Amino acid sequence: MDNRFKDITDRLKDTQNISREDLAYVLEFEGEDNREYLFEAARTVSEKVFHKEVYLRGLIEFTNYCRNNCYYCGIRAGNKNADRYRLTEEEILSCCDIGEKIGFKTFVLQGGEDPHFTDDMIVDLVKKIKEKHPSCAVTLSIGEKPHESYKKYFDAGADRYLLRHETANEEHYSMLHPASMSGAERKKCLFDLKEIGFQVGCGIMVGTPHQTFDHIYEDIVFMQELQPHMIGIGPFIPHKDTPFKDEPEGSVEVTLRLLSVLRLLFPKVLLPATTALGTADSLGREKGILAGANVMMPNLSPVNVREKYLLYDGKICTGEEAAECSMCLKRRVEKIGFRIAEGRGDHPDFV
Ligand code: 5AD
Ligand code: FES
Repeated sequence: MDNRFKDITDRLKDTQNISREDLAYVLEFEGEDNREYLFEAARTVSEKVFHKEVYLRGLIEFTNYCRNNCYYCGIRAGNKNADRYRLTEEEILSCCDIGEKIGFKTFVLQGGEDPHFTDDMIVDLVKKIKEKHPSCAVTLSIGEKPHESYKKYFDAGADRYLLRHETANEEHYSMLHPASMSGAERKKCLFDLKEIGFQVGCGIMVGTPHQTFDHIYEDIVFMQELQPHMIGIGPFIPHKDTPFKDEPEGSVEVTLRLLSVLRLLFPKVLLPATTALGTADSLGREKGILAGANVMMPNLSPVNVREKYLLYDGKICTGEEAAECSMCLKRRVEKIGFRIAEGRGDHPDFV
């Protein structure tokens, strides 16, 4: 066992803080014993807060139209090969009905930034879902909007909002996005969402082109300022129809270690073991839970559109019906000694 690695882990656990140098050390140090020590420390903390329960969120990918052109993303506006679709309100509501039947208490409505869906439509949709499923939480993940739009969604009953900041470093942000987008704007959106009262999720991809450990350190500093309720991280996976098609995939190992670091920094944060992690490694989601994650987001979208919502190549679970995905996850979670939670799975401060 490497002493420095162990000391950093212990200090991280005790102080909920980490220095730039220590972060880089923990993310790159090679050695089996050490990584296990880190994972175990994170697991202990997550078990203390969440009692071996995993929260499920039913993900409804309701539109793959997007006005943006992020260099990494398969549904970017510039991808002429993407087969575009939008679900109707009826189809979305039917996904929620199916979802509640199979036990989900959170619906995540995710889509590209699609101007077709006006604020009024989103508000209407949120109200209808909350009316039909009063015990369920609604999470929106539909990108950057003005403060007033976010406020309308919240007043309509939306509970949570996911908007990954992608990278806190402005220069790195400009290497991942066209000049029409800015990291500052994205951060402003996150602070707006928080001020309005949403449970807010930010996050990054691990191993995006040009990313350094210093960038990840800046992400942590940003998160310490924002104090998000959720943090979504997964490895970058190239998509064949994007400018990043020839870039290497992000590391599963670094993703797992970062999950652990985040659990130790933010003991109560909701931390998903993402689909991207499960795509990069067939046991990635289980490994994520064992490294301190406590959320999974099975796909609730209709099977006929799943192949079309491809942010990256090789995405898993595109052929399974919602009920199959849910059973599969339940089995996987139980196999590693955890169980599926029954409640809505709010952040501990919101309960
Ligand atoms: N690989 C991994 N994750 C991706 N995302 C977008 N494109 C990719 C990719 N190629 C992530 C982004 C976005 C979230 C919805 O999916 O971080 O915020
Ligand atoms: Fe849609 Fe990036 S391509 S938000």
